[in-house]
Amino acid sequence: MSYPATIEPIKQYLLQNGVSESPEAAVILGSGLGGFSSSIKNYTAIPYNSIPGFPETSVQGHSGELIFGEVADKPILAFSGRFHHYEGHPFERTVLPVHLAKAFDVEKLIISNAAGAINTRFKVGDLMVIDDVFRPFYSVASTSSPRFKYNLYKIADDVRKIGASIGLDLQRGTYLFANGPNYETKAEIRAFRVLGADVVGMSTAPELIEASRLNLKAAAISMVTNMAAGVVKGKLDHSEVKIAAETRKEDFARLVTELVKKL
Ligand code: HPA
Repeated sequence: MSYPATIEPIKQYLLQNGVSESPEAAVILGSGLGGFSSSIKNYTAIPYNSIPGFPETSVQGHSGELIFGEVADKPILAFSGRFHHYEGHPFERTVLPVHLAKAFDVEKLIISNAAGAINTRFKVGDLMVIDDVFRPFYSVASTSSPRFKYNLYKIADDVRKIGASIGLDLQRGTYLFANGPNYETKAEIRAFRVLGADVVGMSTAPELIEASRLNLKAAAISMVTNMAAGVVKGKLDHSEVKIAAETRKEDFARLVTELVKKL
């Protein structure tokens, strides 16, 4: 299984612009989680819009740059900003960071996202490791295999242990992929809860599935930035996502650093 041929010229461009041949890990940073970039040392930041063949991102809270640098003395590639399906990108393009991670032959991919909690035992600021995904609206055919080849449950166990080793108590559960761009309705959230989803977001599921297809070890973490529609009173808006992400910024950075070292 391989990635599309269009990835090779992008890799060559990055190699000529400061990225070395063998990063240890790749990290995809979710909405509001771009602050992790300040934990990266000796870095080169390459704006997405300067990379030939790269699409542009248009979401607030996503700066849109690829950062190559060191975390815990290991070279990593961080994607600050992603390509969402709701921005009009076909699924094949939303998984571009996964393809690049594979092209650079990283040992592991760490995916993060902002999500709304459906599970009423969760609270804003919780970090949840994803042990399964659910795609009720995922109707577009892609090249992805429908099954996880690797054991996401086992990876979730490892991530929780690594979190516990630095004093972080991580939730664990099912991530529901919603098309967006609008948030869900209360009725949808009630239904999703009955169907077994713990959090909802608009990314990550295609990335995890593509990583699995390519035999690339991937772990995914959701930051609960809000309770999903109807779980608590009040309106949802994007500024809430950024505020919640801000409060757990340091724990999130410690966790990702530890995963780069130990996963
Ligand atoms: N729904 C969908 N995506 C999200 C949410 C939500 O409540 N919060 C952050 N991303």
